[in-house]
Amino acid sequence: MTISCQRNKFEIPEAITYLDCAYMSPLPRKTIAAGRAGLDKKAQPWTITGDDFFDLSERLRAQMADLTHANAADFALISSVSYGMAVIAKNLDLPKGSKILLLDRQFPSNVYPWRDLAARAGAEIIYLSPETGQSWTDAVLAAIDGETSLLALPQVHWIEGAELDLIAIGKKARANEALLVLDLTQSLGAVQFSVAAVDPDYFVVANYKWLLGPYSTGFLYAAPRHQGGQPLEQCWQSRFGSENFADLTQYTDQMADGARRYDMGERSNFALLPAVEASLAQLLEWGVDNIEHSLRDITKQLATIAAKHGLQPEITSPRAANYLSLKLPVNAPSDILQQARAASVYFSHRGDRLRITPHLWINQQDLHRFDQTLGSIF
Ligand SMILES: Cc1ncc(COP(=O)(O)O)c(C=O)c1O
Repeated sequence: MTISCQRNKFEIPEAITYLDCAYMSPLPRKTIAAGRAGLDKKAQPWTITGDDFFDLSERLRAQMADLTHANAADFALISSVSYGMAVIAKNLDLPKGSKILLLDRQFPSNVYPWRDLAARAGAEIIYLSPETGQSWTDAVLAAIDGETSLLALPQVHWIEGAELDLIAIGKKARANEALLVLDLTQSLGAVQFSVAAVDPDYFVVANYKWLLGPYSTGFLYAAPRHQGGQPLEQCWQSRFGSENFADLTQYTDQMADGARRYDMGERSNFALLPAVEASLAQLLEWGVDNIEHSLRDITKQLATIAAKHGLQPEITSPRAANYLSLKLPVNAPSDILQQARAASVYFSHRGDRLRITPHLWINQQDLHRFDQTLGSIF
């Protein structure tokens, strides 16, 4: 189903054309209200209850389970992708001489932990890119063999917007006993993803882009087979029975069930978590299948406009519905972003690409402004 324009749910002035969700989403009005109410609670701490410390976190885990076809107990609350990847790297023991597969120009939070782990384990990192005629998925599938110990991949390439076939990749990884770790930051909420279908070992997501949530919040998924590991921090809240504040000094080595053991310290952020909940509720109400369908429609219209001005996606893989990544011509002016901003049009420049990433707030006026702006720059 195509979702109609949802601009009234956001605080975006009419004069702004915001095509930069892959950089940072705006917050829905309901999310802002929920966050403000949370901050107000901290101003009156006598109103903060066990619900704020524990039940709210449980509701977020359940929302993530709904969004990804997993179980609530499989989720930890974390601050960032780098935090989640650090938890994962701490718990991996890779064989010496084995291979870690990454994509070329992958986002650094999904590269640095593996460089560190590779150095410690004596493993080798291979950066993959498609050969002529190959898709990114083909390049990954061709590289997996018996020496592969880990694939650390996104669902959508953060610069090119190419989408990987994670079901096929997961299948081949499992057949070769390689671990599959995913960074879903540039896809989850906008592109369908199913734990049940892909069966990753772990995935991590930051909330502040396609999950329409606040900064400094995210989730770590750990498959049930990886729920006996070590957390990064020894948090009191991640210990069994910590709901009972009176008995916190009855120290215990028993951890909370499932992936909760990997929660970050002070995860019960009273302002941010209600905001996360409101955004996830909105996404679940729309439905990710409908969001994906609608974004594909919007990026198609933007692609048609861009093509009129000589800008092409030049992509060797299926393009993700939420992304339009345009190859810059060699003679492109150096101040494209400044010129676009002067016209109140916002998008990103990454590598040799203009990254155009809309959401459901885009209206006809935005399409018109995008057209006019590209016309005056190119
Ligand atoms: C693919 C991807 N992963 C992760 C992040 C953010 O990482 P972190 O939460 O470690 O700051 C970004 C931000 O642009 C991103 O594009």
